[in-house]
Amino acid sequence: MRLFRTIAGVRTQLKPAWKTDQNLALVPTMGALHSGHLSLIEQAVTANDVVVVSIFVNPLQFEPSSDLEQYPRQLEQDCQLCEEVGVDIVFAPTVEELYPHTPSAQGTQTQEEMTRVIPPPAMTSQMCGHSRPGHFEGVATVVTKLLNIIQPTRAYFGQKDAQQLAIVRRLVADLNFPVEICACPIVREASGLAYSSRNQYLSSDEKKQAQGLYQGLQRAKQAFQEENIRTAEKLLLYLQENISGLQLDYTALVDPDTLQPLTSVNKKALLALAAYVGKTRLIDNMILRDRAPIIAIDGPAGAGKSTVTRQVAYQLGLLHLDTGAMYRGLTWLVLNSEIALDDEAGIAELVSQADLQLVLSSDPEIPVKVSVNGKDVTKAIRSSLVTRNVSVISAQKAVRDKLLEQQRQWGEKGGLVAEGRDLGTHVFPNAELKIFLTASVGERARRRQKELVTQGQENIDFEQLQQEIQQRDTYDSARAIAPLRKAPDAIELVTDGLTIEEVIAKIIHLYRDRFPIADSG
Ligand code: PAF
Repeated sequence: MRLFRTIAGVRTQLKPAWKTDQNLALVPTMGALHSGHLSLIEQAVTANDVVVVSIFVNPLQFEPSSDLEQYPRQLEQDCQLCEEVGVDIVFAPTVEELYPHTPSAQGTQTQEEMTRVIPPPAMTSQMCGHSRPGHFEGVATVVTKLLNIIQPTRAYFGQKDAQQLAIVRRLVADLNFPVEICACPIVREASGLAYSSRNQYLSSDEKKQAQGLYQGLQRAKQAFQEENIRTAEKLLLYLQENISGLQLDYTALVDPDTLQPLTSVNKKALLALAAYVGKTRLIDNMILRDRAPIIAIDGPAGAGKSTVTRQVAYQLGLLHLDTGAMYRGLTWLVLNSEIALDDEAGIAELVSQADLQLVLSSDPEIPVKVSVNGKDVTKAIRSSLVTRNVSVISAQKAVRDKLLEQQRQWGEKGGLVAEGRDLGTHVFPNAELKIFLTASVGERARRRQKELVTQGQENIDFEQLQQEIQQRDTYDSARAIAPLRKAPDAIELVTDGLTIEEVIAKIIHLYRDRFPIADSG
């Protein structure tokens, strides 16, 4: 791992990664790393080739007379932690390096000499913005600078700062940054208290009091899930009643994307609060949503994912999100256009405007219905021409981006099972059940041999089959686009010696363990 204090240094180090199109992750932090940060970093390390952690206590996002001076700084310890979890680069610039045009006051908000980024006031003026004027402009400015300096493929933010996350997402969309914003779940201590660098300020009594934040959220969530309480008025009351004793700053029920207040929960809502525990201001939140569970099945080629996925969907009455059919749909579109298969820009232009519609099913006998730009292509996408070309088309970034967005839209509704290579790490990081389905190289070679024999092939070289499978695994794990990765929270299922039925039964058992009363999710 290398530490850089200058923009010139870090950018020079990143040149090879940019040139070779590697998956480059940025995890922006203000240091004093705790388990919450480490979970962001671990997710970034799992899913990317190069990981940069930035450590910068950003004066622009602290109000005058706040805890800027007191904010914990522990660069050496942070670097050590980063090294341990596999970070490649720590970028820890000084204030002078990042804000050269605010020399006199070291970047505090009184300085007006520099360019600022102003997110939509409707998103910044309420919730935390109310008591922290200027805070989100400071965050937006530093995040913009960091994205420009590092030029990551993905940037990781915690769901704990839900308002910040929504504002960063909007910033990236409005300013067309070519980066994917990855949100990571809140990490909590055993008591339920969300990890925060500011927890260091709490005395042990205050820490006990602070647990009330989570308890209040939990109680409101329980009222939503078990008693079907949906109005903001009642949910906020549950929250407030359960955190009596703390000095509340605000409680809010808002749309998680736009941050606009909701009067009741429809599909998804953000329940958020801030409160003072002694002098320390803490925030916490929970997403309330109706969506049914998702099962994400990843694993290497030849582990039996397709059959297992179809059967699991069928037996649990969940929809089978056939991502392969989606790629086939866009491949059909390209093949039926005038555009050459290697004209990536032309294909990007074509697919970004395409209207791909799916009608999913649970029944393995009823394949997904696919239409492209209003034309039913359910049969056409199974042609050998499409089969021959689907891998070339699905390796193109614009194609994957288009489908990622659509897959996540299906994910918003939930109630599905899907299989792939990076579903648990990337497409559905919040999936309720993640399975990494695998088998030893020898076992997969034996299965393939059996298949080939059934197809009438003789004289199969078993050693060579094993080698091919090994090579394919190495390639799939190293490829830039959708590399094969096991999510840290995935359950690994090694299928050596198990029949397909046994594998399916195991997954259904795992699902039933988590959702004992769910019938169709
Ligand atoms: O969440 C934080 O730690 C900060 O707001 C961020 C995103 C690093 C910007 O300074």
